[in-house]
Amino acid sequence: MKIGMIGTGSVSKALTGKLTELGHGVTVGARSAESSSLDPFREIPNVATGSFADAAVAGELIFSVVAGEHALEALEQAGEANLAGKTVIDTGNFLDHSSGFPPHSSASQDNSLAAQIQKRFPEAHIVKSLNTMTNSVMINPASVPGGGEVVNQRVDGASQTTPGGEAGHVASDGRAPDPVAGYLVQCLP
Ligand SMILES: NC(=O)c1ccc[n+]([C@@H]2O[C@H](COP(=O)([O-])OP(=O)(O)OC[C@H]3O[C@@H](n4cnc5c(N)ncnc54)[C@H](OP(=O)(O)O)[C@@H]3O)[C@@H](O)[C@H]2O)c1
Repeated sequence: MKIGMIGTGSVSKALTGKLTELGHGVTVGARSAESSSLDPFREIPNVATGSFADAAVAGELIFSVVAGEHALEALEQAGEANLAGKTVIDTGNFLDHSSGFPPHSSASQDNSLAAQIQKRFPEAHIVKSLNTMTNSVMINPASVPGGGEVVNQRVDGASQTTPGGEAGHVASDGRAPDPVAGYLVQCLP
């Protein structure tokens, strides 16, 4: 599958490495195609580099992997038309570092990053996922002792006006997604 990666940080590096290992083609985007942040990606087989817009154009599936406070700006640069009709998996967190470590979440039930992205890009299909685990777990969920479940929150369509929305969870042992209670959206800013 052709995947567009909007961002060049540690999440992008982890996901790009795993996705290419699995045989997918990934286009990684930065604010500029000449950015030095793309250097670690340039020699990876099956990886192309470019701007955020280049990644959005190339990807059939898009990952938004930038800090929550920059996500809307990055997706703006990716281009609304380039995101239209595509699934965009948003891993971002709005984090407040002003009180030191660990940072607090700046998002809330009525200030959800994914909902803001969905509202700004109504033709894209925003899915909130992977944001509550470290990137090494994203690509190796079996590393968590006892296993666990990944919650995927779809925020487009009817769920924009429904507090719970549609959600599914995928167990680390690969069981099929099941519907889950809407309250889980509270865990997914
Ligand atoms: N690290 C983890 O394990 C982890 C786990 C769960 C969730 N998350 C969340 O995943 C997201 C990505 O985290 P990360 O640490 O991989 O990446 P990051 O360092 O937060 O983001 C790197 C990207 O942000 C872009 N960027 C910086 N300033 C920008 C601006 N003003 N406008 C637009 N884009 C800008 C950079 O562009 P350039 O390439 O052009 O410099 C770069 O591509 C975050 O929201 C984080 O909270 C992280």
